[in-house]
Amino acid sequence: MISLSKKIVVTGSNRGIGYAICKRLAEDGFDIVMIDYDSEVINTAKTIKTENNSAEGIVCDVSDYSSCQKAFEYYNKDDIYGVVNNAGINRDTLFINMNYDQWDKVIKTDLYSVFNITKTFIDSMIKNNCGRIVNVSSASWQGNIGQANYASAKAGIIGFTKTLARELGKYNIKTNAIVPGFIKTPMTDNVPDNIKDKFIEKIPLKKIGLPEDVANTVSFLMNEKSGYINGTLIEVGGGLVL
Ligand SMILES: NC(=O)c1ccc[n+]([C@@H]2O[C@H](COP(=O)([O-])OP(=O)(O)OC[C@H]3O[C@@H](n4cnc5c(N)ncnc54)[C@H](O)[C@@H]3O)[C@@H](O)[C@H]2O)c1
Repeated sequence: MISLSKKIVVTGSNRGIGYAICKRLAEDGFDIVMIDYDSEVINTAKTIKTENNSAEGIVCDVSDYSSCQKAFEYYNKDDIYGVVNNAGINRDTLFINMNYDQWDKVIKTDLYSVFNITKTFIDSMIKNNCGRIVNVSSASWQGNIGQANYASAKAGIIGFTKTLARELGKYNIKTNAIVPGFIKTPMTDNVPDNIKDKFIEKIPLKKIGLPEDVANTVSFLMNEKSGYINGTLIEVGGGLVL
């Protein structure tokens, strides 16, 4: 349990990994700002509020810079301690079939969003001389068939993470990335069983991960005891290498 009131912003938090992250951080005693473009997030936030923390849902399309600026224009950012850039989508298809819209939407949602939201809160974190940024990448960052758009965005996140770790360390802000493997969420629910089985075969632990596996790792990176970790990637994939 933490003693100070500390607020953490989590994007893409109405369901899946983002929701599990919010739930875990709320249990840790953090105040939570849940961001999603699904307006249901306002009600979802009520489900993670505990006696020891506050939770609010804010509707915002994180792929759009002006939407982020507008959503937080009058928001008091003084006590922002952490940012978790988790929102992401995929539009998988072979590059020869990929159209501009599939490229554009994925790059804007998965990569531009990381700039848009980090930019929104960074001045306050620098002023506080304290903070944590956790970016959710993917094992696909190393390249994966059918994911030229997604892999490019997720590789971009790694470069962004390592650059911010160098630039912001002097402000006591630590930036790290999590690299999930195959995790059971609504994003992966549509993957056909035969493809899931192929993944399980490739995973040394022989099982698909859970959103809580990622959430527990974010909790660790937000904990003051992990304060000397900066600019690193933590794989949460049971050993999966694509
Ligand atoms: N599930 C996996 O196996 C897996 C593996 C590696 C990485 N990841 C990454 O983890 C993150 C979460 O994935 P998930 O599986 O929980 O996905 P999900 O589709 O289950 O949930 C994504 C959430 O993000 C929100 N969202 C999407 N676009 C948004 C936007 N423009 N603005 C605001 N909110 C938006 C959605 O409404 C949803 O609530 C993503 O970045 C994904 O790429 C997932």
